[in-house]
Amino acid sequence: MRVLFVCLGNICRSPSAEAVFRALVAERGHSSIIQTDSAGTGAWHVGNPPDERAQLVGRQYGYEMSDLRARQVMSEDFQEFDFILAMDNSNYRNLKRMRPDAGRAQLAMMMAFAGRPNEEVPDPYYGDLSDYETVFDMLKPAAEGLLDHILNEMKHD
Ligand code: 4NP
Repeated sequence: MRVLFVCLGNICRSPSAEAVFRALVAERGHSSIIQTDSAGTGAWHVGNPPDERAQLVGRQYGYEMSDLRARQVMSEDFQEFDFILAMDNSNYRNLKRMRPDAGRAQLAMMMAFAGRPNEEVPDPYYGDLSDYETVFDMLKPAAEGLLDHILNEMKHD
């Protein structure tokens, strides 16, 4: 089972989502069956580690993400991954547009898994540390809902 988190730059929200989700997967003992990655629709930050502010706030929340490196999302990702989670409406639209006909990944909004299908994870890039805290506060319940959903789906396969 492979899960990809996508935002615009792949240095703030999607690596944060990956860090939160992979910690939860590890905590629940599913690391051997669930793999994670993240990517950006934009290419400005390719090869870079997550934004320092995301790393700082992440560490305060108990998430280490310095090992992650930004990459751009590719149409092949729709074959490689089972789930692709968009952080906001713009990411979602761009992903939908690049989805190949043969793509098998299920595309969804991240916050849908926190029972908030119309909500976006707000871009913190031009904000301050409190905006990064908001991101992590939003991602935790969404990551929990996503993992429950995936485990449930695997049980019924
Ligand atoms: P992210 O935040 O999409 O959450 O990684 C952003 C990072 C960089 C830019 C925009 C958003 N940027 O314009 O460079």
